Amino acid sequence: MKTLKVHGSKGISRIFIGERLQNLQKYTDSRQVVIITDRNVRNHYSKDLPSCYIIEIGTGETMKNLDTVQRIYLDLLRLGADRSFFIVGIGGGVVSDITGFVASTYLRGLRFGFVSSTLLSQVDAGVGGKNGVNLRGYKNLVGTFNQPEFVICDTDLLKTLPEKEVRCGLAEVVKHACIGDACLFSYLEAHYKKALALDRDVMEKIIHDSVVIKSSIVNRDERESGERMKLNFGHTLGHAIEKTTGIPHGEAVGFGMLVASRLSFKRGWLSKHEVTRIEALLKKLNLPTRLKVDGNLVIEAMTKDKKRRSESLNFVFLHGIGEAFVEQIPIKELGAGINEIIRL
Ligand SMILES: NC(=O)c1ccc[n+]([C@@H]2O[C@H](COP(=O)([O-])OP(=O)(O)OC[C@H]3O[C@@H](n4cnc5c(N)ncnc54)[C@H](O)[C@@H]3O)[C@@H](O)[C@H]2O)c1
Ligand SMILES: [Zn+2]
Repeated sequence: MKTLKVHGSKGISRIFIGERLQNLQKYTDSRQVVIITDRNVRNHYSKDLPSCYIIEIGTGETMKNLDTVQRIYLDLLRLGADRSFFIVGIGGGVVSDITGFVASTYLRGLRFGFVSSTLLSQVDAGVGGKNGVNLRGYKNLVGTFNQPEFVICDTDLLKTLPEKEVRCGLAEVVKHACIGDACLFSYLEAHYKKALALDRDVMEKIIHDSVVIKSSIVNRDERESGERMKLNFGHTLGHAIEKTTGIPHGEAVGFGMLVASRLSFKRGWLSKHEVTRIEALLKKLNLPTRLKVDGNLVIEAMTKDKKRRSESLNFVFLHGIGEAFVEQIPIKELGAGINEIIRL
């Protein structure tokens, strides 16, 4: 098992990579525990959950809203939950986002932790202290910054994940490698088959290295005033592609990273060889490197991104594999560049 710490403004979060769901009770101080999980996770792992009150939500992004939050508040009220209660979210990013938000706001804050059960939540959503829900189609519009006391990343739970979820989680690992760790990138190139097969040692290593990159950035910039923006590599365009085409998040981000890499090459910051390596790794991980998308629609969706600043966008470029930086780019210039690349 590997352990890491994230220092948030409101406390320290401990990440346990390779710990097992069955050991959850070691981390909850034998307090009154309430579990929040979703139907899929409960169906797969009911025998491994400790005997405590369980609040089950439906599955998928559409559950991440204020109706679900209110339902959970009412359950907590019925249970007579007070500040001595401990909330544990067991699931993917949808469960952790909802759990973090509920626990941060109910009675102005209860203690909470996560057991992350998807690769995306182990390398990304569970780490960093952001949580929130969607409102009227705006993603994560309502939320808080607050660190869970612990995050258990049980790699055994990944065995029941649909293959698509594994690939999409790996796209986020590639993102972390591209922005902060050239050695992790090389490791993925060498071990991609074992990663796709969920080999335990390989997964522990890549989850650990990913969390190191994300948590070191978060440790320096919890509230996204500067450096945290690097974590948006591939995402400005990725979110817009996801919205316009409906393809899964990780696939859209993979393509977004490829376009950002090519734009970095066009500006003379990344070598042709590095762009080729990024494209080849995405292919090896069965992530799309060719997409039929309407560039104009993508640009339209992108300019509606809530992170937009006036006529320019913050865009994450690469100086090399393992080194990202943020530069303002006029939307017009970005749009023209993307259109050109999408037509290649
Ligand atoms: N807070 C953050 O910093 C942050 C960062 C990235 C993403 N997110 C959020 O995370 C969410 C996406 O997370 P996700 O990809 O984990 O999605 P998810 O939570 O919807 O999980 C994906 C699917 O896998 C199922 N599942 C979960 N664990 C399983 C298991 N072990 N075996 C079988 N099935 C399982 C779920 O029921 C669901 O159907 C989005 O809402 C996104 O906004 C948040
Ligand atoms: Zn993402």
